[in-house]
Amino acid sequence: MNGGSSGVTVLDLEPAASDFLEQAIAGLASVPPTLPSKFFYDERGSDLFLQICELPEYYVTRTETEILSRYGAEIAESIGDNAELVGFGTGAGMKTRMLLDHLQNLVAYVPVDISKQSLTESAEALSREMPSLEILPVCADYLQPIELPTPSKKPDHIAVYFPGSTIGNLKPEVAQHFLTRVCRLCGKSGGLIIGVDLQKTTEVLEAAYNDSAGVTAEFNLNILARANRELGADFDLAQWRHRAVYNEQAARIEMHLISEVDQTVHLGDREFYFAAGEKIITEFSYKHTVEGFSALARSAGFQLARYWTDPRKLFAVFHFTTL
Ligand code: AVJ
Repeated sequence: MNGGSSGVTVLDLEPAASDFLEQAIAGLASVPPTLPSKFFYDERGSDLFLQICELPEYYVTRTETEILSRYGAEIAESIGDNAELVGFGTGAGMKTRMLLDHLQNLVAYVPVDISKQSLTESAEALSREMPSLEILPVCADYLQPIELPTPSKKPDHIAVYFPGSTIGNLKPEVAQHFLTRVCRLCGKSGGLIIGVDLQKTTEVLEAAYNDSAGVTAEFNLNILARANRELGADFDLAQWRHRAVYNEQAARIEMHLISEVDQTVHLGDREFYFAAGEKIITEFSYKHTVEGFSALARSAGFQLARYWTDPRKLFAVFHFTTL
């Protein structure tokens, strides 16, 4: 626990540095080599992601924000009164605010995020603006089973808010397992509000992940910089190049780091050899259809209540309920 000046106390279930080491070694040892995308979000990575959200090519955050600003009141009404809102990966909390502003008699807000810095800062800012709201921040990897704190007042129902299309990082079968767990967490008459990026042309998608300012490249390379900083690895960042490609078959953006030369990297007590042109996969970002995602959620025990989208159908915000 660490007490904040504003009365917000973060429940600290942050994954240990040893998790990063273990998972990085396992990832680099697999074929093809991978690094888990959740490790993008250290302080530097979270900051770079905020910069990505401002890029002209990166329509994702802008479009989701547009949907929320347009339909926030409707979405809140669909959720209903006296809810406990659990936020997964709500980061700096800009989008959550657009829901909180409309929710009637919210019992508590439980933001869960892997980035302690942005979680703490946003929880403290929120607590200053909504001093009567019970805020119970949890620093944790919400992809793992976690035990959440219980609000002091009993809610009528639990609503999980999972914005940002982070669900897109999960392979469909993993997403199904995750959603099944979320469904159980929601309990009876609970709900899930989830932001999902939709399928669109390769051209638009690849531009969004290969921005002309090179911010996404820096974001991608930061995972190597972080491995150097935190794990004592010796990646030479000048010898790696960012590339994002849309795999149309699998309906996913793939973020790659391409080795520019034959090289050996040291991590822990391990050595990894990369030939020139070989890649490390750092992220999958699956793109869904409204029908496809609804079916996925249904297979996890949810039923579709409503969804909202933008005029170009770039992005969708779904409200699913439990029985
Ligand atoms: C935060 C997972 C939604 O997949 O678009 C942005 C992360 N990666 N640019 C995404 C990301 C490269 C982002 N998500």
